[in-house]
Amino acid sequence: MATKSHKAFNDLPLLPPKQSLVETIAILKQESKSAVALAELKGLTSTLLNPNILINAVILKEAQASSGIENVITTQDKLYQALYAKSAKPDVATKEVLRYREALLMGTLLIKEKRFLNTNGIITIQKELEENNAGLRKLPGTALINDLTNEVIYTPPDNFDSISGLMKNLEEYINIDEDDVSPLIKLAMQHYQFESIHPFYDGNGRTGRIINVLYLILKGLLNEPVLYLSSYIIHNKGDYYRLLQEVRTKNNWEDWILFILKGIEQTALSTIEQINKINQLFNETQKLVQEKLPRIYSKDLIEQLFVHPYCKIEFLVKNLNLERKAASRHLNNLKEIDVLKSLSKGKEVIYVNEKLYNLLKNG
Ligand SMILES: Nc1ncnc2c1ncn2[C@@H]1O[C@H](COP(=O)(O)OP(=O)(O)O)[C@@H](O)[C@H]1O
Ligand SMILES: [Mg+2]
Repeated sequence: MATKSHKAFNDLPLLPPKQSLVETIAILKQESKSAVALAELKGLTSTLLNPNILINAVILKEAQASSGIENVITTQDKLYQALYAKSAKPDVATKEVLRYREALLMGTLLIKEKRFLNTNGIITIQKELEENNAGLRKLPGTALINDLTNEVIYTPPDNFDSISGLMKNLEEYINIDEDDVSPLIKLAMQHYQFESIHPFYDGNGRTGRIINVLYLILKGLLNEPVLYLSSYIIHNKGDYYRLLQEVRTKNNWEDWILFILKGIEQTALSTIEQINKINQLFNETQKLVQEKLPRIYSKDLIEQLFVHPYCKIEFLVKNLNLERKAASRHLNNLKEIDVLKSLSKGKEVIYVNEKLYNLLKNG
């Protein structure tokens, strides 16, 4: 009979590990730096007039980066065209990245509504991502393999009972805070645990990274899904894989947790910088339009150009209650003063806020 011992499920210990391993001095020092940066990001996000500008921008970037870690490669151009141009015929990778975006948006709604994240919620997110109903793994045979040498690095638990038991433990760990360990440290631990349970046939990496941002919202550290580690992980992919493995082989929680905490600090700081740049561009654009096109200027109009870096006549018709003719005239006027560039796609004309677009691309 399986008991709730530390070796209960295929040798993957239940959470939590010993507190002394995860609250070392180095970890606590880094944790406070990360927490300060994250709090600043949360504060700044809450002052934004229209957080959708930021959310739309960073979610697409995250979808691209997180999928990129798994070698699902597409470009920002393809993504925007697939989202906005009716005539676009997105390739497989582009569709997959857009599904990641949908899964993330859905997960965010789920967390905001329910204020907890259980196994069912996680299964729903993975289902949206992978577009299949497979659910938790029921068949053995899943192994993590080194792409270069083909050697098996790790075999996750391979029977349904073990997987469900471990997921139950993880679910409690995510939702119930009995200890006083910082949620940022716990974020690192739950991510390791989720990836090690590897509960699905596929999509574990991406689902796990979606859970990370949802966790921050769940713990009240962010109000909106705007902090994503995937870009940091891509730049440090070797460390990401190595340190996940070292928790298992060397009980090296410290370096893994430090890796995630540093990622949170760096990413929070770069997102703050990004927000400041977007705000600055917004203000410049606003001033220019006020000056050159006073008759059509409104703050709502400028906002549309930032919520949709790819803007279309129908968006203004719908969101600003304009006649089609007027909407078209506005966009063409904005093009004449170089605030927008136009792009013909099939029968459609798309108006691109190119300065914002480039800022998002390079950020
Ligand atoms: N040694 C390891 N221990 C635990 N998890 C790992 C290890 N190496 C990689 N992973 C995780 O497995 C993920 C890949 O699993 P996979 O199910 O293929 O996800 P996806 O389909 O999203 O790529 C990686 O992104 C990483 O999070
Ligand atoms: Mg995969």
